[in-house]
Amino acid sequence: MRLTALSGLLLVGLMPQCAYAANLYAGHATAAAVCSHCHGIKVPSADAPFPTLAGRDVDYLKLALKQYSDKTRKSDIMNAIAGSLSDDDISNVATYYGRLKP
Ligand code: HEC
Repeated sequence: MRLTALSGLLLVGLMPQCAYAANLYAGHATAAAVCSHCHGIKVPSADAPFPTLAGRDVDYLKLALKQYSDKTRKSDIMNAIAGSLSDDDISNVATYYGRLKP
């Protein structure tokens, strides 16, 4: 009984960290699979016309992706890509890029 209560407490205590790790992990997976083809992970290739994402403000990245997604910001490429991301995907990938040191 006491053990059960204790493990319950432990689980609750550990969960926020797990959720946080999952966010960054999922964000990294999306970045590596999709975004890095154009934006790179840390920096785009020198002559590429794509903005750098690493180390940018997380809220700015989220806002930009939401605007691409609902097409209030126009870009043929990014409208299509952001349109296929869920709110969670946007939050994860923005957090991942924002926390990277450029
Ligand atoms: C096929 C190439 C391509 C891919 C793949 C791509 N992007 Fe982009 N991205 C662009 C281009 C081009 C722009 C500039 C568009 C514009 O003029 O607004 C851009 C702009 C952005 C911006 C705005 C940056 C700023 O400075 O305002 C963000 C944020 C962004 N992309 C995030 C992503 C994320 C996250 C992914 C992966 C889910 C991704 N992009 C995948 C080509 C790409």
